[in-house]
Amino acid sequence: MGRRPFIIDCDTGTDDAIALVAAFGCEEIEVRAITSVNGNVSEPYTSRNNRNLAAHLGLNVEVAHGARHPIGPKRYDYSLTHGQTGLGDVILRDAEEYAYSKDMAPEVIRRIAAEENGNLELLVVGPMTNIAIALCLYPELKEQIRHIWFMGGAIRGGNSSTSAEFNIWVDPNAAQLVISSGIPMTMVGLDVTEKAVLNREDEQEIRSYGHNGALLSADLLNYMFVRHGGGGEDALMHDALALAAAVCPECMEYHDYFVDVVCDSIYTAGHTVVDVRNRFGKEPNVQVAVELKPEVFKTWLKSSIKNCKSI
Ligand code: BDR
Ligand code: CA
Repeated sequence: MGRRPFIIDCDTGTDDAIALVAAFGCEEIEVRAITSVNGNVSEPYTSRNNRNLAAHLGLNVEVAHGARHPIGPKRYDYSLTHGQTGLGDVILRDAEEYAYSKDMAPEVIRRIAAEENGNLELLVVGPMTNIAIALCLYPELKEQIRHIWFMGGAIRGGNSSTSAEFNIWVDPNAAQLVISSGIPMTMVGLDVTEKAVLNREDEQEIRSYGHNGALLSADLLNYMFVRHGGGGEDALMHDALALAAAVCPECMEYHDYFVDVVCDSIYTAGHTVVDVRNRFGKEPNVQVAVELKPEVFKTWLKSSIKNCKSI
């Protein structure tokens, strides 16, 4: 069997960047394109991070611009969780020679989905704006996308409000549209990602691999530890865990649930309603990760980073 074709849609972001490094170490998949979206930082930064990262790793992958604003109201300012540029205190060379795709994210998704004839999978680790726009422009994508693996939401709790996770909270309308699309999908939410944490020993092991992708990951982890020391988020591998769901499913346990998104509410916008008790009597539409096996995940992540096709 050939490698599974993927597009990675991301708002790079420290943990997005580590997920990208890991993705280029996964033999099972072929990353056909990286599409950029507004989220952790503004889109001009996320796309530049994606381009510079591709150049830093010595890759030749299509990198595309994407949405600069949510499709719904913009209700937030950028947080400093990922620093001013999105990569914390890590500075990558500005790879001006690396040309962006001539197409924007929705068009890239349409084109590659058509080329891949029903086999394309999406890894979505930022707000779902690009995917929602693509589905509005090209409804035939609903039949052409094999699976969406997304980091977002939570059965319980939130990290941007009391009940909303960041990626969904930034653009609840987009998430609602994508989640109700009927495309097979897997949700990797805070219930599991907040347990997917790396430590200093992991950082040192990753650094010892020595290639650009490993050193970049280790530097990003170092930024996360310092951030955590200052009261910020720990070295949580939110986005790499969504990749793990796709290529190392044994990292987690899953359950099929009906999921919807609250869009219009002052207090709960962006909340993913996961009907664990089947109170609404609706057919499940999402496979939801419910339990993490941390050591299986860590072993997989480190070997994927080690294996990254990086210079
Ligand atoms: C999500 O938000 C971002 O900060 C991370 O990159 C991740 O995708 C976690 O809530
Ligand atoms: Ca992200």
